[in-house]
Amino acid sequence: MLGKMITLEGVEGAGKSTQLVMLVDYLRQHGVSVVSTREPGGTLLGEKIRGILLNDDGVCISDESELLLMFTARQQHLQEVIKPALAKGQWVVCDRFIDASYAYQSGGRGMDQHRVQRLEDWVLAGFKPDLTLLLDVPVSAGFSRIQNRGKDRIEQENSAFFERVRRTYLQRAESDYSRIKVIDSSQPVDVVANAIQSCVDALIALS
Ligand SMILES: Nc1ncnc2c1ncn2[C@@H]1O[C@H](COP(=O)(O)OP(=O)(O)OP(=O)(O)O)[C@@H](O)[C@H]1O
Ligand SMILES: [Mg+2]
Repeated sequence: MLGKMITLEGVEGAGKSTQLVMLVDYLRQHGVSVVSTREPGGTLLGEKIRGILLNDDGVCISDESELLLMFTARQQHLQEVIKPALAKGQWVVCDRFIDASYAYQSGGRGMDQHRVQRLEDWVLAGFKPDLTLLLDVPVSAGFSRIQNRGKDRIEQENSAFFERVRRTYLQRAESDYSRIKVIDSSQPVDVVANAIQSCVDALIALS
């Protein structure tokens, strides 16, 4: 793979979408060709699946179905968008990716993480992002930032769910510290952006 993949993770309102736009600008200023994308989504099929997963329209979705749908969207995303872009030397910046499945479906929902691992082994087959930026913010602070927004199906969960999500993200960062960088996202937008740029500078220097 010639390009690099950077993923942004974190609980609701952590600032992923805000920082993604700024990071893409920063990379382009450094002459990097970038594809900006998100999960679930990123392809026509993936965006349809996103609608099923996030619409709060009363459709019954078991925890297992949720996990499988996430990985169905991911499989299509990898095959149709991510791997072709990387093969062309483009960088891919993605709003949520594999770590979200561990944080939400295993940490949040309480599903056995080995189930997630088995799907990761199958769908990703060893593929990993080059860098993951975990935007860490207290759950209540993140939600207060998005209080004027309507809540999607998953956002209806209680605060204990999101505390487990946050904790799982932090545990993953601890056990995979060379890939996952924790950024204190309770700081102002520009301070967070600077911290992200410092992490990314190392990756640009390597390329
Ligand atoms: N560091 C920050 N300090 C204060 N407000 C912020 C910060 N970062 C983002 N915001 C604001 O918080 C809100 C949520 O930010 P954003 O949409 O980027 O979060 P997100 O992580 O993408 O959320 P979601 O998980 O719901 O997609 C926006 O109104 C944004 O302007
Ligand atoms: Mg967002």
